[in-house]
Amino acid sequence: MTIAIDVHLDADAAARMARDVRAGLCDYPKELAPKYFYDDRGSRLFEQITELPEYYPTRAEREILEQRSGEILDAAGCPSTLTELGSGSAAKTRHLLSAMRDRNSLHTYVPVDISEEITHRTAAELVDEYPGLNVHGLVCDFEQYLERIPHGTDRRMIAFLGGTIGNLYPRPRQDFLERIAALLGPSDHLLLGTDLIKDRARLEAAYDDSAGITAEFNKNVLAVLNEEFDADFDLDAFEHVARYDAEAERMDIRLRSLADQEVRLEGLDLDVPFAAGEEMRTEISTKFSRERLESVYAGAGLELRGWFTDADGDYALSLAGVA
Ligand code: SAH
Ligand code: AVI
Repeated sequence: MTIAIDVHLDADAAARMARDVRAGLCDYPKELAPKYFYDDRGSRLFEQITELPEYYPTRAEREILEQRSGEILDAAGCPSTLTELGSGSAAKTRHLLSAMRDRNSLHTYVPVDISEEITHRTAAELVDEYPGLNVHGLVCDFEQYLERIPHGTDRRMIAFLGGTIGNLYPRPRQDFLERIAALLGPSDHLLLGTDLIKDRARLEAAYDDSAGITAEFNKNVLAVLNEEFDADFDLDAFEHVARYDAEAERMDIRLRSLADQEVRLEGLDLDVPFAAGEEMRTEISTKFSRERLESVYAGAGLELRGWFTDADGDYALSLAGVA
C-alpha cells in the first residue's frame, strides 16, 4: 500500500485565480467560476448538499453505482487504475473500488481535486479501507493539469462523477473531453456522470433547498474571496438565486446584490460596485439528454459504449471510449 499526494496549488494557480476573479468582477454581467466554491468549508457544504432531500443527483448516482458497478467495470474491461476528476469525498466511488477489488483488478486510485483538505482525508480513508491499494492523489485544477495526472499504464478508467461536467460551459467542456479522449488508449474508458433534463420545479428545488444549505454554499465563494484577497464582501448583502434556463438546458446560479454597495478587494487593489438587484453568475449546471450527450461525445472524438440510469431516469452514468 502506498499513499502520495502532490499539491499543485502554486504561485501560478494563485496568479490565475487573481486574473480570473479580477476579470469576472470587472465584466458585465459579473461572473465567478464555480471551482472557487471549494475551500474546506465549501467542500463540507457540498457534502451537506448531497444529503438534502431536494438534491436527488447524488442519491441517483449512488443507486446506479450500488447496483451496477460490476456491470460497468466488466463493460470497461476490468480496469486496474481508476483516476477520478473532482473526487471530493469519493463516497460513491467506494462502490467502484469494491467491485474492482472483487474482480482482483484494483491496483491504483488517483483522486484529483482542487480542494486540499478533502483530498488528504479521502486518500487516508481509502488506504485504510482497501488494503494494498496505491493512492496517488493530486490537488490541482484538473483543467490545467489533465495531461500531467498519472493515469497508469494499462486498463485505465477516468471517472468524472457527480455531474461536475455540467458546471463547464459548452466550449471548455468540448475542449476538456477532447483532451480526455487524447489520453485514452483503445481499451481505456471514461465514466461520466450527468444529470438529466427534468421538470423545472424539481430542478429549481434541488438548487434552492428549504434548509438554505445551497444558498450558504453559493455565498461561500464570497467568503473565499474575503480570505484570498482580503476583501470585505458582506455575505448578508447578497441573496441566492437558482433558475432553470430551459433553452440552454441548465441551471443558472447567481448571487443578487440586495443593495447598492461597493466592495473592496485589498489584495487586488480593486473596488467593485454592485447595484441593488444586480446579479452575478457563480455557476451553471447543465442538464443532458442521451441524444445531447451522444452528440457532445461525437464532437470530442468519443463514442457512447454504455448507458446506466437510476430507476426513475433522473441521472445517467455513461461509459465512453475513443471513437
Ligand atoms: N465527485 C464528488 C464531488 C462533486 S463536487 C461527488 O460526486 O459527490 C465537485 C468536486 O470537484 C469538488 O470536490 C471540487 O473541489 C472539485 N472541482 C471543481 N472544479 C475543479 C477543478 N477545476 N479542478 C479540480 N477539482 C475541481
Ligand atoms: C458539483 N456540481 C455537479 C454540483 C451541481 O449540481 O452542479 C454543484 C452544486 N451547486 C449547487 N448545488 C450543487
